[in-house]
Formats: sequence, C-alpha cells, structure tokens
Amino acid sequence: MKHFLKETDFSNSEITEIFSLAQNFKQKRNRHTPPTLAGQSWALLFYKRSTRTRVSFEVGISELGGNVITLERDRLQLSRNESMADTAKVLSRYLHGLIIRANDHEVVETFAREGTIPVINALTDFLHPCQIYSDVFSMAEKWNENSSLLESVKGKKIAFLGDCSDNMANSWILAGKLFDLEISFAGPKAFAPGKKIDQLIKENGYTNAYTFTEDPEEAVKNADMIYTDVWVSMGKEDEADLRKKEMLPYQVTMDLLKNAKPESLFMHCLPAHAGEEVTQEVLDSTNSIIFDQAENRLHVQKAILSVISEACRSN
Ligand code: CP
Ligand code: NVA
Repeated sequence: MKHFLKETDFSNSEITEIFSLAQNFKQKRNRHTPPTLAGQSWALLFYKRSTRTRVSFEVGISELGGNVITLERDRLQLSRNESMADTAKVLSRYLHGLIIRANDHEVVETFAREGTIPVINALTDFLHPCQIYSDVFSMAEKWNENSSLLESVKGKKIAFLGDCSDNMANSWILAGKLFDLEISFAGPKAFAPGKKIDQLIKENGYTNAYTFTEDPEEAVKNADMIYTDVWVSMGKEDEADLRKKEMLPYQVTMDLLKNAKPESLFMHCLPAHAGEEVTQEVLDSTNSIIFDQAENRLHVQKAILSVISEACRSN
C-alpha cells in the first residue's frame, strides 16, 4: 500500500511526476481536471486545527471527482478509547484513503499499518510533508527559467530561523537531502534539531544534512530563501512565554534579509504571527511568496493524491 507519511516515501520518479502534474493542474485549473478519484470516498481525520490543509484537501479531492468527509477526532469513538487499530480497520471498509493530522507521528504510522487504505500525513508534531513538497514546488516555480523544476532548486541555500526543532524544521532537513538543498538553521540552542530527526537521517544514510548556528546573520548570509515558522507550534502553548523570549533574536526583519542574496525569497508555511517570528514588513515585501505557497498546497496535493491513487490501482 502506498502511503505518504514522510518526505522520503516517494521515489525520485514519483516526485518528478508530482511536480509535473501539479504544474499542469495549476495551469489548467477550472478547465479540465481528470476525474482520478471518481467513485472514491476519502476522509480527513483531524486531531488539530487547520485552515489551509483542510480546505485545500477538501477542494482538491472534489476537483478530482472524489467524495470527501471531514472527521474530527473528538467526535469519533476514538476519543472514548476505541483503539486506533480498530478504527483504521473499520474506516478501511468504507473509504479509499485517509488524510490525518495528529500530534504523535505514531498515529499516522499506526493507521497506515493497521488499515488497508493509503494514508497521507497532513502534519504531525514530527513532520509536515505536504507543506514541504508545496514549498519546494513554490521555489522551483520562481527559479525555473530554462531548467526543469527539480533542477532549478538544486544547490540553493535555505536559511531557517526560530524553532529549529519543530515539524517544519524536520521536514526541511529531509527535503534538503531529497532535493539537494543546503539547509542552514539559526535559533536558540535549546531549539536546535532534535534526536529523533537525527536518528531518521542516520537511518537514511544522510550525512551533513544541515548546519546549526545561534547567529542569525551567519545562517542567512547569501541565502536564496529565508524560512520561518511560528515560535509556538500547536500543542506547545504552555511554553509560549519562554519561547517568545528566547526566539526574539531570530525574528525575520528587513534588516536581516539584507544578509541574504538580493533577490532572495521569504517563505512561511502560515499561519504567521506578525511581530513575533517575522515583521509585517517582510510578510508584505516583494521577497515574500507566502500566498503562492498557500495556493500551491491545492495543486501539489492534487498531484500527490493522483500519484497515490495510481500506485494503488496498479498494485
Ligand atoms: N500550513 C498549514 O498547514 O496551515 P493549516 O494549519 O492552516 O492547515
Ligand atoms: N509548526 C506549526 C506548523 C503549522 C502549519 C505547528 O505545528 O503548529
């Protein structure tokens, strides 16, 4: 069964296919979309809030001809101690695929293992692979002049500031190896990339996957793209005061951007908290492509759904 739980779950040829389909879906939106999911029912099972992921998947599935239902964990028997294994088995009898946003990464792994339908990770505390594929696609779109989409991102320097231990940071580490990017982190030492991602990159045989510094200017120097994420991820609200204090030196400002390449991009997965991890001026600047990123979630996820459903058909 084909799942998308982490960035490395697609082969290079599948990634090429996803990017090319996404480009096609974007160019032809509102004209013809093949009804790849016709006759299928997919569900979104969310343990946490969402705006972009939920809406872009709902719209994407319906544009591909599928039926979509959204389930909130608290309204399922899961929240009254029905096991994940039983829930996965039952949902597999009704649905053709499941898209899950959860806290523990083990939740998406358990559903994938116990069920018999494809599972897509719509964010866990560990990784956010749909966001990263859309982000890399968004950079490629901007830089793609004469080369292929994937070629155009090779060797680019990405500077990630703030909470370098969160799901987006982990996903950038995997993307760095997958798409041949240089990943340079800056943040407080207590928020450096953690043991779990280091273990995963070791298992994949990745070396020199990233650099980490406490100096924001050093990380941003000559960068092609500067990325940040909220300082207080969902589930970390109890640590809000400490995080905001420690991460303040890593706020992305116009001054900091001067250390990057002149045409550098600014990116953020959103939601953004202007005045915390980034200033409003940067969000509004010509460097910023935050809304292209948000839009591309739709096109890239339609491509992901198409490649997964094709892989399941040929199994
Ligand atoms: N970037 C992202 O995943 O946004 P949502 O939390 O709104 O889905
Ligand atoms: N790191 C953020 C990403 C939100 C899309 C969070 O987990 O809340």
